[in-house]
Amino acid sequence: MLVDPEKVKPNDVYAMMVQAITPRPIAWVSTISQQGVSNLAPYSYFNGICSKPAALMFSAVNKPDGSLKDTVRNILENRQFVVNVVPFGLAHPMSLSAQDLEYEESEFGISGMTETASRKVEPPSVMESPIQMECELLETVSVGQGPFAATVVIGKIVLMQIDDSVLDETGAIDPGQLDSIGRLGGDNYCRTTDRFTLQRAAGKQ
Ligand SMILES: Cc1cc2nc3c(=O)[nH]c(=O)nc-3n(C[C@H](O)[C@H](O)[C@H](O)COP(=O)(O)O)c2cc1C
Repeated sequence: MLVDPEKVKPNDVYAMMVQAITPRPIAWVSTISQQGVSNLAPYSYFNGICSKPAALMFSAVNKPDGSLKDTVRNILENRQFVVNVVPFGLAHPMSLSAQDLEYEESEFGISGMTETASRKVEPPSVMESPIQMECELLETVSVGQGPFAATVVIGKIVLMQIDDSVLDETGAIDPGQLDSIGRLGGDNYCRTTDRFTLQRAAGKQ
């Protein structure tokens, strides 16, 4: 099968992309509005992009009416956000927080998660999440316009808070303890419990 995205409906392109690009890590992004209302939403168009400076990105697709999602609106206003890592035990609250609530309403309440003060940024972190990355906005990149277009948010990590419970005896993050989840297509997810080791081939790099 050959697919030319320009000849397929955007919804179908989306479905194919999220089935093809898997598994995707999930950024559970907390932000705050100028009025002080917190916001929490998952984003799986997400990855780390650089370690000096420590930086990550996620991409927020516009709402069906072409407007920005609350997360982006808040970040454009105060240039700060927190990426909280989602372990298997928080999958259900994460999913609850993906609901499109009114701008004035916080998804912390509906997901049952607890806001905790961040150390270097104003938006709160998710207390129950074992790893919280506090970020300052570096830049946004607009991709397309209107419905289905997106804003790529690039942030500099100014603080990583890692719960000792997910560290091994050497101080490294233990994937078994972290038990993070990934997103596949549709309503499907995967766990990181089935792992294998593959040594990188020697030679020119
Ligand atoms: C696991 C998961 C991953 C998601 N990833 C994205 C994403 O990468 N980009 C996006 O625009 N929406 C994504 N969504 C949908 C948003 O979370 C949803 O639109 C949410 O209501 C946005 O909230 P906000 O307007 O408060 O920012 C995802 C939803 C789920 C459940």
